[in-house]
Amino acid sequence: MTLPRQAPSQFAPPSRQRRYTSPSSPTFYLTIFLFFLILTLITPTPTNAQLPMSRRRAAFTQYNNQFFIQGGIPATAGGTGDLSALILNSSWPTASPAWTTLASGNWVWHHAMVSVRPEHSAGLGSTSTKGFLLTVGGYPPPLNAFFSVYNLQTGTWANLTTMSPYTGLEGHTAVADPATGLVYIMGGYYNLNPPNPSVGNLLTVFDPKTGTVVSRVEATNANNMTGASALWSSRRKTVLLFEGSRAVATGDVNAIEITAVREYDTTAGLWKTFVSCRCFAFV
Ligand SMILES: *[C@@H]1O[C@H](CO)[C@@H](O)[C@H](O)[C@H]1NC(C)=O
Ligand SMILES: *[C@@H]1O[C@H](CO)[C@@H](O)[C@H](O)[C@H]1NC(C)=O
Ligand SMILES: *[C@@H]1O[C@H](CO)[C@@H](O)[C@H](O)[C@H]1NC(C)=O
Repeated sequence: MTLPRQAPSQFAPPSRQRRYTSPSSPTFYLTIFLFFLILTLITPTPTNAQLPMSRRRAAFTQYNNQFFIQGGIPATAGGTGDLSALILNSSWPTASPAWTTLASGNWVWHHAMVSVRPEHSAGLGSTSTKGFLLTVGGYPPPLNAFFSVYNLQTGTWANLTTMSPYTGLEGHTAVADPATGLVYIMGGYYNLNPPNPSVGNLLTVFDPKTGTVVSRVEATNANNMTGASALWSSRRKTVLLFEGSRAVATGDVNAIEITAVREYDTTAGLWKTFVSCRCFAFV
């Protein structure tokens, strides 16, 4: 039997063993200390840009070098309609991030938000040279306000008269195709009181150019989802979907194991499986 040459082993001759630093030696602790010291020195200090109000289940989007966040459940419970914007393309002191508080929208959470460019906004009820923020659904079900818009030029909100595609929908994600403006609303659920069935959305497409829902496909038990994340791949011209959990009753979430990123080809109207290589540099 031959032992591997380099493996430290109890059979190694004493002269070889002395080369290893014993875990209890001062040199060992000094090395560990220096390692963490260097790590601390080279790691950038995280930027502290806390929101004007802490909250969860808010909707957010990024548009024209600004980050927008609206609605949600504040730490103190209840709900909020607050809309805040953070400038991303100029520097600000970390102690006072450049948040701006804008006009409040609907009191809603677990909804989704996308931006709409001026050239795609003809169906949104007013004109805006700066475009719009569009919020979709959420909880409590925003009756007669399933689609709501914030006009970035006038700084005012309006509810669209577009019929709601569902009684209620929460936990969905939304993404817009930058070329067509079409908004792809994926996933989401609404648990009606028993014995009524719950509602699950797979894909609803909204056109801001006409202010209409152009298509809707309900989810099944096999493909319903809540808390997924969708993003537009400008290189592949498709929607990449990173799933969250099955849409079951709150408190009983059932996480979906991500073995592959799902992809929706908006041109062909097809769902595909995007093989995961654990290296998402193509996005
Ligand atoms: C930041 O982006 C906005 C919108 O694109 C632009 O109007 C503004 O000039 C930019 N500011 C800086 C400092 O680059
Ligand atoms: C939108 O509708 C909600 C009721 O669902 C209402 O509370 C809110 O005031 C409306 N917003 C506007 C801007 O009219
Ligand atoms: C989602 O699917 C699960 C089973 O995978 C089912 O228990 C649940 O009722 C479904 N929810 C909706 C909203 O369809």
